[in-house]
Amino acid sequence: MIVSIRPTVASEAGILSRLQKDAFLQVYEKYHDERNPCLRGEDDILRRLNKQNRYFTVLCDEKIVGGICFRCNGTRPPDRKIEEGEYYLCRVYIHPDYQNRKIASRAILLCEKEFPDAKTFYVDFPKDMEKNRKCYESAGYSDTGETLYMEGTPELAVYIKKIDRIESGVIAMPAVPAIFEVDKEELPRCLDVVRRSFKTVAEEFGLTKENCPRHTSFITIDFLEAQMSMGWHMYGLYAGKQIIGYMSLSKEGDEVFELHNLAVLSEYRHVGFGNLLLDYSKNAVRSLGGKVIKIGIIEESAVLKNWYIANGFVHTGTKKFAHLPFTSGYLEWRGD
Ligand SMILES: CC(C)(COP(=O)(O)OP(=O)(O)OC[C@H]1O[C@@H](n2cnc3c(N)ncnc32)[C@H](O)[C@@H]1OP(=O)(O)O)[C@@H](O)C(=O)NCCC(=O)NCCS
Repeated sequence: MIVSIRPTVASEAGILSRLQKDAFLQVYEKYHDERNPCLRGEDDILRRLNKQNRYFTVLCDEKIVGGICFRCNGTRPPDRKIEEGEYYLCRVYIHPDYQNRKIASRAILLCEKEFPDAKTFYVDFPKDMEKNRKCYESAGYSDTGETLYMEGTPELAVYIKKIDRIESGVIAMPAVPAIFEVDKEELPRCLDVVRRSFKTVAEEFGLTKENCPRHTSFITIDFLEAQMSMGWHMYGLYAGKQIIGYMSLSKEGDEVFELHNLAVLSEYRHVGFGNLLLDYSKNAVRSLGGKVIKIGIIEESAVLKNWYIANGFVHTGTKKFAHLPFTSGYLEWRGD
C-alpha cells in the first residue's frame, strides 16, 4: 500500500467534499455539531486553496482517499495567533473504506516535509474520539492537557508536535512546494530571493555594480514595487512560509507575455523547482489568455539556454548592447 500526497487543485474539490462528507458523517451522527465538515460542500475546500493554508490530496495506491489541510497564518482555536514556525493542522479526513490502515498518520508525516521551517504543529479534535487520538499520537503528537469549549463543537483536546531540527546546515527539501501570487508586503522577501539567486549568475559572468549596474542581482525594491503597480503577475515559490523561488510575468501584447526574474535559491536547485515554476508560468499564461512567452537571457549561458530549449522554448535571436558586458539572447515558447 503506497500512501502519497499532492497539492490539492480546484478540480478536486468535488471529490474531496464527497469524501469529507462520508468521513465526518459518523462524528456528526454522534455530536450533531453544527460546525461539522460533513455539512459543508465544495466551497469549503475551494476557499482553503490559498496562501493561508496548504491543502493536500491524500492518495492510496494512486486513488484519492482523503484530504489534509494545514493553516499557515491567522489564528488557531480559540483565537491564538499562528506564529512564525507554527502550523495548525485544521482538517484531516480519510474515507471510511480506507480508515484503520494508518493512512492518515502516514500522510500527515509526508505533509510535514513540506514545512521545512516548522517548529510546532497543533491539532485539536473531539476529546473522546479515541481513533483520532491514536492517529495523531502515531504521527508524533502529544496531549497538551488543554481542552477547548467552543460553540457548535464538542469538547476538544489540543495536541502538539514539536520539531527538533538539528542545526546541521542540511536543507530540508520539500517535495511539492506551492506557488502563489505574492502580496505587496512580501516584496522585500522576493527581492532577497531574486538578488541572492542572481548573485550566482553575476559571479559566473563577472558582473559587478560597476560594469553592469542594472543586473538583476543588484535590483532594488522600487523595481518590484513598480512592476506590481503596473499589474505584473508576480509569483513566489513557497516551502512552508519561506519563499525559495520567484518569477513574474508581464503582458507585452495580444497573447504575448514576458517571463522575468525566474529564480530558485541556490540551495534548492537541481531538484525540479525551476521546471515547476516554468510549467506553472505556461499554465498561468494560458489562463490569462496568452499563447506566447518571451524571455531574455545571457546568451553566453549555454546551460541555461539549453534548459529553456529542453523545456519547449525556441531560440529567436541575439542582440549586443554597448552598456552590457554580455550578449542578450532571446527565446520564446508558443502554447497550442
Ligand atoms: C534557472 C534556475 C531557475 C533553475 O532552477 P532549478 O530549480 O535548479 O531548476 P531545475 O531543477 O528544474 O532544473 C535544473 C537544470 O537547470 C539548468 N540550469 C539552468 N541554469 C543553470 C545554471 N546556471 N547552472 C546549472 N544548471 C542550470 C540545468 O540544465 C539543470 O540541470 P541539472 O539539475 O541536471 O544540472 C536556477 O538555476 C536559477 O535561479 N538560476 C539563477 C537565475 C537565472 O539564471 N534565472 C534565469 C533567468 S533567464
